[in-house]
Amino acid sequence: MAEEAILGFLQNNEQITDSGQFSAEFNIDHNELVNVIKSLHGFRYIDVQDIKKETWILTDEGKKYAAEGSPEVQLFLAVPEEGSISKDELQKKLAPAVFKIGCSQAGKNKWVEMGKQVSRKVKDVEDKVKGQLLQIQQGKEFDKESINSLKARKLIVPQIWKGYSVKKGPNYAPERKKVATDLTRENLQNWKELEFKEYNFKAKGAPVDAGHLHALLKVRKQFKDIFVQMGFEEMPTNNYVESSFWNFDALFQPQQHPARDSHDTFFLKVPSTTRTLPEDYVERVKRVHESGGYGSRGYNYDWKREEANKNLLRTHTTAVSSRMLYALAQKPFVPKKYFSIDRVFRNEAVDRTHLAEFHQIEGLICDRGLTLGDLIGVLEDFFSRLGMSKLRFKPAYNPYTEPSMEIFSYHEGLGKWVEIGNSGMFRPEMLLPMGLPEDVRVIAWGLSLERPTMILYGIDNIRDLFGHKVDLDLIKRNPICRIGI
Ligand code: PHE
Repeated sequence: MAEEAILGFLQNNEQITDSGQFSAEFNIDHNELVNVIKSLHGFRYIDVQDIKKETWILTDEGKKYAAEGSPEVQLFLAVPEEGSISKDELQKKLAPAVFKIGCSQAGKNKWVEMGKQVSRKVKDVEDKVKGQLLQIQQGKEFDKESINSLKARKLIVPQIWKGYSVKKGPNYAPERKKVATDLTRENLQNWKELEFKEYNFKAKGAPVDAGHLHALLKVRKQFKDIFVQMGFEEMPTNNYVESSFWNFDALFQPQQHPARDSHDTFFLKVPSTTRTLPEDYVERVKRVHESGGYGSRGYNYDWKREEANKNLLRTHTTAVSSRMLYALAQKPFVPKKYFSIDRVFRNEAVDRTHLAEFHQIEGLICDRGLTLGDLIGVLEDFFSRLGMSKLRFKPAYNPYTEPSMEIFSYHEGLGKWVEIGNSGMFRPEMLLPMGLPEDVRVIAWGLSLERPTMILYGIDNIRDLFGHKVDLDLIKRNPICRIGI
């Protein structure tokens, strides 16, 4: 409609002098008119020139007076026609701002006598301010003096109005020609008769509906890069189902340990047990649990094969480390640096910080003669690459490490020390039955992937990060992960 109006008008008229007047005359919304003008101008149907005008719009206060009357008139009307009213009484009748402004304006206009008592000095008043405000609201123009006074009272503010004057352009036609937009077979055959629409190489394309990396995967990649930079190899973590043997027994975790309860661990119903275990190694593990050896007294209980056979969803990636160390012990010894980042499962109550399924990051180094000092040094190197250079260690307990240390880092944002991981040196009761040489030590540490991810992305409920309640927008729009310095 706007397009027909413009092109039609220009057929018989030299120009449209002011798009604002045109929009009022033809009852077309000015914004719509401007859009059409821009489009027609783009195809050079018309030439345009900018028009800028200063207009006025009412402030909130101005709008109020346009509706309710100016404060001076409100005040005047509150004073009785005959006699007088006490100032206090008058004040009670009016809103505080109306009273204050009303007093000064009505006094200035000599409408009322102001003292302890207030009385009228004139019979009638006209609400000029209200009238002017209403007219400005309708876009009428005004004399400078009135404008200045309304402006001084902060009832109106200037606004720049932008419009156009319009003339025929080089491609003017009373109707827009249909242009071909696609290179179809038909269009190409008729190309001589057709006019093709020019390509707009600056147009933004539609967003591509491609795959997106989850925040956890981005953080995982950063951790992976750090491990790789430090010369670590990735362990194969592709089996979630593990036997109790590799998850617990091989790690010198006694069979009565509470973590081996079905309240803490998901056991499998089908298949409920593992099929094969390395028998001679199983025998050595049984012995070290029952009666020790290698300088240990063991746990002194009846070790049961059935318990070791039970299948479960691995509760930590240390199950993978135990398999890898055992495999390493079957060949002539070579030092290794291994890492893994993958999923683990625990039968836990779900809350803001716990899920039954999460990711663990694990690193280990095995070499001859490693010490606790090496572990501390490696942890400091590793965590400083994450931007955490203030570390503290707290003695802790794991069945498979001695000594064990919880790792704390000073969190600048939270202003306190937060636990970020667990670490230790694997026990001889774990390493020697595997067949590793006696002087080989293994230092290892583990942490969750979710915790640093939540800190990095400012998420305080783990269920907003992982699981079925996650907002897909988070996955589509989470920014690049940058950790460290
Ligand atoms: N497996 C431990 C855990 O689940 C982490 C850890 C790994 C501790 C290696 C010591 C050494 O918390």
